[in-house]
Amino acid sequence: MIVIPGPSSLGLGWRVAERLGVEPTPVEHRVFPDGESYIKLTKPVAGEDVAIVQTTAPNPDMRFMQLLLMARTAKDFGAENIVAVVPYLAYARQDKRFTELEALSLDVIFGLLEASGVTDLVTINIHNEASTRGVEAKHGVRFHNLSAVPLLAEYLKKEHFDGAYSLSPDKGAIYIAEAASKVLLGGYNFFEKTRDRKTGEITMAVKDLDIKGRKAVVFDDMISSGGTMAKAVEALTQQGAERVAAACTHVLYMPGAEEKIRKAGADPIIATNTIETPFSRVSVAGLIADKLRELS
Ligand code: R5P
Repeated sequence: MIVIPGPSSLGLGWRVAERLGVEPTPVEHRVFPDGESYIKLTKPVAGEDVAIVQTTAPNPDMRFMQLLLMARTAKDFGAENIVAVVPYLAYARQDKRFTELEALSLDVIFGLLEASGVTDLVTINIHNEASTRGVEAKHGVRFHNLSAVPLLAEYLKKEHFDGAYSLSPDKGAIYIAEAASKVLLGGYNFFEKTRDRKTGEITMAVKDLDIKGRKAVVFDDMISSGGTMAKAVEALTQQGAERVAAACTHVLYMPGAEEKIRKAGADPIIATNTIETPFSRVSVAGLIADKLRELS
């Protein structure tokens, strides 16, 4: 298998190749002054299985364009299977039309990947796996979603969060808290979050939890503005939790997010390297390599 670390995932792509025991195949790339991306593969791919590791943040539109250029070029030059490894898949939150006449962004993304020759898409903790399966059914791209939650929980266990309570900030992410509690063994629950679709304002219905003097971890798929995480952390600190950690798979690192979450009382804030940020404490390289081994 040829592993191409894309411009947005150079470190992770190299680590995946290393785990697979193959030499990474770099891609030649640059961005022209007008913002257009240039891509050139550096090795023949005819008859080969190709895995392209390219996350789509920050700068999702450019990162997608680069991914499409890499995939289509591999297709044009005769690659057999093309696996797009997109650890953080941008646009996945728009997986249905919430109001009339909205773009169904995730469907558009699948269509573009398919047209560019992608045969398999590998993601980590996509926003909503069930909705994504619905989109997958309309396209000829096989979709594989992996979970980094046990890895995050294992990390926290070593950081003295063994026995901590696991919490998700909304019902949709309850599966994350449940998976984490299998490692931390301290029980799990969820808060009810609603977000105003126009203003983005978050309201959280907080339950009384028996959390006084206990450690807790808020687990979510992503931190964007930090509003969701901050509200959940604050609810736990206000109920007397001894220490609260904030953990998620993807940190989009928006301005002000860290400050908001720290102010609410979180320590530490941890994430994976699906997007490289100062919070990346857990590597998903092994998880991806195992999947690629299975697919090859
Ligand atoms: C939403 O349902 C997601 O699971 C996250 O909770 C959300 O995207 C986080 O966004 P923010 O950090 O802006 O509150």
